[in-house]
Amino acid sequence: MKQRAPKQTKPKIAWQTNDGTRVPFEVFYDSDLYAAELDRIYSGAHWQYLALASEIPNQGDYTSTYLGERRVVVCRDNDGKIHSFENRCAHRGAQVVPRQRGNASQFNCPYHMWCYNHAGDLTAVPQSGGVKGKGGMPKDFDLSAHGLRKLKIAQYGGLIFGTFAEEIMPLEQYLGPTMVKHLDRFTKRPIRVLGYYRQVVEANWKLYAENTRDPYHAPLLHLFHVSFGIQTPAKAGGSYMDDEKKNNCIVVTGAPEDADDHALLIEQYKTNEKYRPDYALRDPRIIGTQRSHDDDIDLVIMSIFPSLVVAQVESAFQIRHIRPKGPEKFEIYWTYFGYDDGDEKETTDKLRVANMIGPAGFISMEDGEASRLVQQGVRTQKGTHSFIEMGGRGDVTDQDTLAQEVAIRGFWQYYRKVMGFNAETGGGQP
Ligand code: FES
Ligand SMILES: [Fe+2]
Repeated sequence: MKQRAPKQTKPKIAWQTNDGTRVPFEVFYDSDLYAAELDRIYSGAHWQYLALASEIPNQGDYTSTYLGERRVVVCRDNDGKIHSFENRCAHRGAQVVPRQRGNASQFNCPYHMWCYNHAGDLTAVPQSGGVKGKGGMPKDFDLSAHGLRKLKIAQYGGLIFGTFAEEIMPLEQYLGPTMVKHLDRFTKRPIRVLGYYRQVVEANWKLYAENTRDPYHAPLLHLFHVSFGIQTPAKAGGSYMDDEKKNNCIVVTGAPEDADDHALLIEQYKTNEKYRPDYALRDPRIIGTQRSHDDDIDLVIMSIFPSLVVAQVESAFQIRHIRPKGPEKFEIYWTYFGYDDGDEKETTDKLRVANMIGPAGFISMEDGEASRLVQQGVRTQKGTHSFIEMGGRGDVTDQDTLAQEVAIRGFWQYYRKVMGFNAETGGGQP
């Protein structure tokens, strides 16, 4: 029988403008739209981060992750080849692999012990021939037709990406030259995972997509950035996108004299009672840490649609994987990395800064809280919208300043295209 195309939910949300300067608040809580996102974005033709190849170095190593809300496993077989498959039994749907990561010679579903190999192929079914001539599978049962659902995968710089889509552009083209350039910078040395943590945020996942494309908030929400000279309005930087505007890279570069530009800072922060130029750290080892690259880049926040952020904050490098958990909740899965060929000081410094960034530190706690505050503000709003004009209106273009939020509009431009919101009808329904 011919398979019918999957039903696509039609969003019924009106956009006031087509340039992303107004985002209707319904997009942050509407459950029909969320279901359509899981279908069109997370199960659609988008390369999504799965894992680092260095996390599964040996035969039989595996790690578990998510594509949207669907559980998937990434595994290295006995020939060293990497595979990925959905973690859902072909029999009655149980989760086959229960652990986060490990090493296995095969995978047995706990429910009826169906057995799968490293590629997700079904290799054995207990009692399939029946017992004492009774029961068992029908004669035409074919093991090869009942493997786990496989993902198409591709790698760049040791990062493994996957997709459920049959047709998709090559990964490098999907990333675009700017992301490729910065990924090359991050991955030119052998990567070593330093640790993980998870953070649950009570907000829609797209609020985090906005947050990581927003250099405007950094020296305001994260005021310690300014107090300690990490990012100040005096520093140079900008936002750089791919052709489709779905991916963005914020880059901040620093010269030694920037942090001393207190006159500018005090002028900019006059309206803010929280800024305290006299604040200092009791233990300053958390800043001024050893860098891994011989360049003047202090901060990189690379957002790759829909669910990956690769970032440098000072000397700390992280992969942040966004995992939606319903319309009003998402998880960020953080993988901190350094380099195998680094000395002890380089690694210690990275871990020290990780404490500053993590959910019990400053940056991520504040970003999560800002997203939650927006969610609380918008979750019942109909016919109202945000206002996104910092950096201008109209065409979305690369920016060589940090006082803007233009790449957020790039995200929405691409999002609307994928979700079928029609620009020709004045931003109306598809
Ligand atoms: S559900 Fe997996 S073996 Fe039955
Ligand atoms: Fe932030």
